[in-house]
Amino acid sequence: MQAYRASLLHFTDDPLRNPDGTHWHEDGLLIVNDGHVQAAGDYQQLKSTLPDHVVVEHFPGKIITPGFIDTHIHYPQTDIIASPAPGLLPWLEQYTFPAERQFENPLHAQEVANFFLDELLRCGTTTAMVYCTVHPASVDAFFEASAARNLRMVAGKVLMDRNCPEFLRDTAEGGIRDSETLIKKWHKHGRQLYAITPRFAPTSSPAQMQLAGELARAYPDTFIQTHVAENRDECAWARSLFPEARSYLDIYDRYGLMRERAMFAHCIWLNDEDRARMAATRSAVALCPTSNLFLGSGLFNFQRAEAQNVPLSLATDVGGGTSFSMLQTMNAAYKVARMGGTYLPATKMFYLATLGGARSMQLEGYIGNFVTGAEADFILLDPQATPLLKRRTASCNSLEELLFALALLGDDRSIAATYAAGVCV
Ligand code: GUN
Ligand code: ZN
Repeated sequence: MQAYRASLLHFTDDPLRNPDGTHWHEDGLLIVNDGHVQAAGDYQQLKSTLPDHVVVEHFPGKIITPGFIDTHIHYPQTDIIASPAPGLLPWLEQYTFPAERQFENPLHAQEVANFFLDELLRCGTTTAMVYCTVHPASVDAFFEASAARNLRMVAGKVLMDRNCPEFLRDTAEGGIRDSETLIKKWHKHGRQLYAITPRFAPTSSPAQMQLAGELARAYPDTFIQTHVAENRDECAWARSLFPEARSYLDIYDRYGLMRERAMFAHCIWLNDEDRARMAATRSAVALCPTSNLFLGSGLFNFQRAEAQNVPLSLATDVGGGTSFSMLQTMNAAYKVARMGGTYLPATKMFYLATLGGARSMQLEGYIGNFVTGAEADFILLDPQATPLLKRRTASCNSLEELLFALALLGDDRSIAATYAAGVCV
């Protein structure tokens, strides 16, 4: 058993829908047993429940909060982060596809996977939904590195059998066969979870989309991840390839790819009917604001998504995204929301980066907060990590102001430590 004393923040509900959803303990205690949360609350109330032999680790001035959940990121794009291009499609051609080609070499995949996971942990992210490449060995390399750190990760082999370079192409049947082999090998192997991963509708043939939907039905507890409605050119392209569909999102719907545990990156150019389908099927949005700003894709409509009860989560989308840090991602999300006339409180942003992500992935109770029995993935936030943060947070008068300063000014430097399943990683 371990016990950690510091300020403590977590959520049991959306703070904008339920004022009792935010749990803040100025002097808090987190008790961990066998990698799981035993209790979380006020230090003064909980200390008497500790057995005598347990030494409390005290971190005065720090904040214990659940590890961040990044619901959309590409590990093979680590090395092309911050590569300039005029928009999504040229960026894919010029940088992304050549970078992904290198993952035909398993040694390269291993090296990048290890760096990538260490970088995520440095930034306080303990769970992510991760794209690998078209190569099955890129998935093995990723899950091996994740299992070695005992992380709760979701990942999958990219499916793409058309409209991409020859060197990155699978076949409709071959890609699905490889995915099924990987599901059997990795899904629920320790903390690892598999996501069926059609890159996006333009790079999968109707036959591959059909088979992906059948695979998703055959393995209903796997995840699904893809991109949708990111960029106007991409939307027009997708519609021209599937003219029978009502909308870009509807392509996925027709092939049975909208369901619980399905994660759709971007969702910028959706209409109300699309959003209603997201809500009805419990499919989730991975909102990627640093990527959307960087690639000039557009501004996500918070107002309509919230009004229509669309499951919402936050994501970096590295390498289209410009930071691994979920704090930097909150900074961008706040500004995107402002541009659309929505005010996004800091408590809501921290909710989205923790419990909101877990709920979008149907993993509430496992990760994302400190309910009893949850997996002990947590971080120590340092509100004094930089001279400017220290100066600014010294005069904060409320939890909201403190979290807001961390979201706007914080980055990897604000993460003092990261724990996965109760172990400092
Ligand atoms: N759409 C299809 N592939 C990609 C990708 O790798 N990154 C982003 N941002 N969008 C995509
Ligand atoms: Zn992406």
